[in-house]
Amino acid sequence: MSGIFYGIGVGPGDPELLTLKAVNVIREVDVIIAPKTEKKEDSLALSIARPYLKDNVEIVKQVFPMVVKFEQSPEAWESNKNEILALLQAGKKVAFLTLGDPMFYSTYIYVFRLLENCGYEIETIPGVPAFCAIGSKLGYPLVEGNDILSIIPATATQEKIKEVIAVTDNVVMMKVYKNFPEIVDVLTENKLTDKAVMISRCGLPDEMIIRDLEPAKEQKVNYLSTILARRR
Ligand SMILES: C[S@@+](CC[C@H](N)C(=O)[O-])C[C@H]1O[C@@H](n2cnc3c(N)ncnc32)[C@H](O)[C@@H]1O
Repeated sequence: MSGIFYGIGVGPGDPELLTLKAVNVIREVDVIIAPKTEKKEDSLALSIARPYLKDNVEIVKQVFPMVVKFEQSPEAWESNKNEILALLQAGKKVAFLTLGDPMFYSTYIYVFRLLENCGYEIETIPGVPAFCAIGSKLGYPLVEGNDILSIIPATATQEKIKEVIAVTDNVVMMKVYKNFPEIVDVLTENKLTDKAVMISRCGLPDEMIIRDLEPAKEQKVNYLSTILARRR
């Protein structure tokens, strides 16, 4: 019997935002792969999916190096890949959990690339991306009519960010934790701070919403933080 690999998006935090398909597969698989950071023992994706785990499911926590280093050192990912392949070779159904949507700025994309030519069936199950959940949570329409929405990782170069912000109607700023003050400055220069909102840990018990970004500039920003902004 041949194993099957699932990539499952568990949404941004609220356990009720998993799709029915995600829940059905999570209930059925033999093994759950939960990505975690080096520093923390628990996995956020796993805690979101926990209400749906079957009693005897095998849980394997894997630490992934920074995605930015993937191209330079893909061998760092080899042991995780081999561990997953061994489970698949044993005929197991294996589900890799990931925050939000699996094909949207996710570690899963790299895992998928490592496994896609290894001869096993892969099924990717979409999840609610954080920015969609945030728009709904805040009652903040993301795009209307002919609006153009730009999704910008704040980790991109300042030059590229400035170019896009100058022409777009609406903005979703992801990964704002690293250079938050610079991002607020760019939004202010482009008259985008009036309606800008930042939300941290949307859907989690310690969710935080900041509507006035300028005074918050010196605050330490959580990794799970996103800014929505619009021109009109
Ligand atoms: C590596 S990306 C993962 C995106 C994810 N795959 C998705 O579909 O939303 C991490 C970024 O997503 C955003 N994010 C994810 N979950 C979030 C949440 N619960 N609240 C606010 N922002 C979140 C933040 O901008 C964070 O820096």
